Amino acid sequence: MDGEFLIDGSRKTLFVGLVCVDILNLLPKYPKEDIGHRCIDYYKQRGGNASNSSTVFSLLGGNVEFFGTIADDTELSFIQRDFEKFGINFKNSIIKSNKTCPLSIVILSLESHTRTILHTNKDLPELTLHDFANSINLKSSEYGWIHFEGRDNAHEISSMLNYVNEFKKAHGVGIYTSLEAEKLRFAPYLDELDMWKLPDIMFVSKDFACEQGYTSMEQAVSIYHKKVKAGAVVICAWGDIGAAAMSDQSGLVTSPAFPPSEILDTCGAGDTFIGATLFALAKGQALQKAIMFGCKVAGSKCGVQGFQNLA
Ligand code: FRU
Repeated sequence: MDGEFLIDGSRKTLFVGLVCVDILNLLPKYPKEDIGHRCIDYYKQRGGNASNSSTVFSLLGGNVEFFGTIADDTELSFIQRDFEKFGINFKNSIIKSNKTCPLSIVILSLESHTRTILHTNKDLPELTLHDFANSINLKSSEYGWIHFEGRDNAHEISSMLNYVNEFKKAHGVGIYTSLEAEKLRFAPYLDELDMWKLPDIMFVSKDFACEQGYTSMEQAVSIYHKKVKAGAVVICAWGDIGAAAMSDQSGLVTSPAFPPSEILDTCGAGDTFIGATLFALAKGQALQKAIMFGCKVAGSKCGVQGFQNLA
């Protein structure tokens, strides 16, 4: 092992966050408003950042669980079957009755390589600390890593991270934690709740960093690194440029991007980067190697439709 992290392969990585249904429409170019368009293809798949990262982690051969709320509507069996198909344990997820599954309509443009996401969550409640503490048995030593997707329930995510950190301190158990800051509306909470100091790894997206005025991945990780707790790592993927990371041990490290010969579907590329990077880190790989692996798998993902044909 030459990395900063390593978990025993028998212990699971838990991805906490959203699962939804995605309908992806592949078009030659981004559509004009108020006219009919013929799409090249469409497909339906299980989506959501944490759900996608868990898919990639499982495809790579990792021991993985997903934890989130799932609506008890007509999509429930689709989601359950799909988790099973990809070998993802979701036994502790909370089924909410009389709620509607969140849905994304995704426009994929072959010309601009963009993925435009129209997301609706009518009424599915977000996870709470209560859900987490009652469902996830940290005492069982089942979990080696817990990754949280930064969502609107920032107060609850902060409480869940604090809960895990306190458990680690009280029981001397090694569980690594990571947090994703992708959504721009999550930014104020990070400062307000001092969430920068909570995880061992902070993933920051390009959009998030650009919105805060950063113009390069190197600049972003150097400045965000000052905000995280001592010994923690900051990782930032920067689309077709690659990714950068910083830790006390490794300093600033970077990786180029690995674009496929033809870009078909960039939806979930960031989630793929996180799943693959965590997989490599959990295997004890050095930070630079781990982000390079993340970039390679994310690049491959952009060349295939969905996640099915990845890896
Ligand atoms: C991709 C994704 C989609 C989902 C949307 C939710 O990163 O997770 O699968 O529909 O984002 O914001």
